[in-house]
Amino acid sequence: MSESERPLKISVIGCGYLGAVHAASMAELGHEVVGVENDVAKAEGLAQGRVPFFEPGFEELLRRSLASGRLSFTSDIKDAEGAAVHFLCVGTPQRRGEYAADLTYVEMATASLLDVLGPGELVVGKSTVPVGTAARLAELVAERVPDAVLAWNPEFLREGFAVQDTLHPDRLVYGIPDGPDGARAEQVLDTVYARIVADETPKVVTDYATAEMVKTAANSFLATKISFINAMAELCEATGADVKQLADAIGHDDRIGRKFLNAGLGFGGGCLPKDIRAFMARAGELGADQALTFLREVDNINMRRRIRMVELARQVCDGSLLGKRIAVLGAAFKPESDDIRDSPALNVAAQLQLQGATVLVTDPQAGENVRRHWAQLDCVDTPEEAARNADAVLLLTEWRQYKELDPAAFGKVVKTRRVLDGRNALDREAWEAAGWTYRALGRRNL
Ligand code: UDX
Repeated sequence: MSESERPLKISVIGCGYLGAVHAASMAELGHEVVGVENDVAKAEGLAQGRVPFFEPGFEELLRRSLASGRLSFTSDIKDAEGAAVHFLCVGTPQRRGEYAADLTYVEMATASLLDVLGPGELVVGKSTVPVGTAARLAELVAERVPDAVLAWNPEFLREGFAVQDTLHPDRLVYGIPDGPDGARAEQVLDTVYARIVADETPKVVTDYATAEMVKTAANSFLATKISFINAMAELCEATGADVKQLADAIGHDDRIGRKFLNAGLGFGGGCLPKDIRAFMARAGELGADQALTFLREVDNINMRRRIRMVELARQVCDGSLLGKRIAVLGAAFKPESDDIRDSPALNVAAQLQLQGATVLVTDPQAGENVRRHWAQLDCVDTPEEAARNADAVLLLTEWRQYKELDPAAFGKVVKTRRVLDGRNALDREAWEAAGWTYRALGRRNL
């Protein structure tokens, strides 16, 4: 075994989505890992191989890593003592009533880590933070443990592909200090990611501020791309053009690319919305707010799609939602996830209900979360139950199960065959051939 493949003792502080996947993945790479999670029940569950969220492939990875004896979970930060590398993986949600990120968990995790941090150890931030945070934390580390070093190493995992994105990332980004401390940090990170580095994964070694900004810039670009095509959808609606064909045509230009040009209900989830807002807030603090005012418009375009969807539902329901039965297929913010944070689907479902419709929501994975957090919405297990006697069916999250529905058989359960495709995901011709009135955002009415 070469020096760069040496297994390390690693701690992962914060075992939510990012941390749990990161901890198990680091054990998969051969390291000895302890995951530190304040929530005792969550830590105990993970230690028994129970995954508190839906993520394809993760349970198998977790169980494999636990069985290897290289992965454990604890609620006691003291168990992180002696690790060569400590990853900070806590959440940075949007502050209540503000755009800025809430750094409470980052501050708390750092403070508790400083109590056990030893000389020569490496602290690695992975959380998405406002630019400038790493430099501030580096000072705290240097004050307390002069020989310890801080690096910033953002993650880019997508929900639904978290395992793949962690073990086979598109790129590695290391934000490190200048000089020998930085060189040591790079070497340790190369040892942590030895197998990923050996795969010739592109690596960008840079300063703290750039590393922090890579993450927010990437998410802002993705959000902008989605809102761009949704703005085109608005124009298509005004002109009778077709946004799907437009996206296909411009996407053939490989400078533009077809990915993330799916027009529809827009983006939600725990990352893109809060990250673009936190980025705007931070730009304001830095006196550079003008540079990001376009993101406000990106956010506005995104939110307008939800309102437009409700309007479209009203239109197809003969101008009034009062007393209409509406089936909502999908509650998660995207398929292959049970995450309902800032879900466009639930936003629309709630608006429809508030305007007098009887709404039945269904989702293959997110039902439990809907029942727990959105008790005012009625949630059922199957699309057929949701659609029984419905005046309209809305596809709001493009799960494969819904794309594969047989429109003829499904048509037998509804009262009126009206379908609104909020994700431009259904086979329009097949649904129309089965007698459905098909409407979608940015599409021509035939
Ligand atoms: C995102 C980033 O992709 C990831 O790199 C980062 O680490 C975390 O944030 P995620 O939140 O899991 O990941 O979701 P993503 O797959 O990016 O989708 C975000 C939202 O955009 C979803 O609501 C999705 O439905 C929507 N979307 C995506 C579109 O509306 N149109 C598209 O073409 C693509």
